[in-house]
Amino acid sequence: MNVTEKTPRQGLCCGVLTVSDKGSQGKRRDSSGPAIVEMLEATGLAVIATAIVPDREETIRETLVQWVDHLGLDLVVTTGGTGVAVSDVTPEATRKVLDREVPGISEAMRGASLQKTPHAMLSRGLAGIRKTCLIINLPGSERAARENLAVVLAALPHALAKIRGDEADCGG
Ligand code: MTE
Repeated sequence: MNVTEKTPRQGLCCGVLTVSDKGSQGKRRDSSGPAIVEMLEATGLAVIATAIVPDREETIRETLVQWVDHLGLDLVVTTGGTGVAVSDVTPEATRKVLDREVPGISEAMRGASLQKTPHAMLSRGLAGIRKTCLIINLPGSERAARENLAVVLAALPHALAKIRGDEADCGG
């Protein structure tokens, strides 16, 4: 696990978690994680934690809890393990740590992705909130991760502000 804590913290802090058996064993280069980092940083978000973990429900869950409860991240984006293979358990791990789901985020991603590929319907990714952190599951390939994240990027600043308690009226 790679945690690059910046002190003092400025702005909103994110983590990017790659879920991949092969990636975690060094048998496959992770290009999705770095692509997500690049997209988040281009949006002005600071990525302070990255990790590659195997498709193991308990490990995914523990990492999410650690990052939210102990690092106090504002946003965690996962990539991989959302599909229908027996080994795909990221949604199950995520559901167990969420306080509230935000289904519109995953609906929007799947809806837009279906315009690109019918395989989009096979991603079971979730989005939701634990404490004051938004957690979003993306599919695993770099292309799929980029395409899905691009759909929600514009809504992220408003979502994160609201989750952290911004009481200003929503402007639309
Ligand atoms: N969404 C977009 N936008 N583009 C894609 O190429 N690939 C799909 C889907 N979502 C894809 C996509 C495929 S092939 C699968 S199997 C599912 O995401 C789940 O991917 P995962 O198991 O790697 O998480």
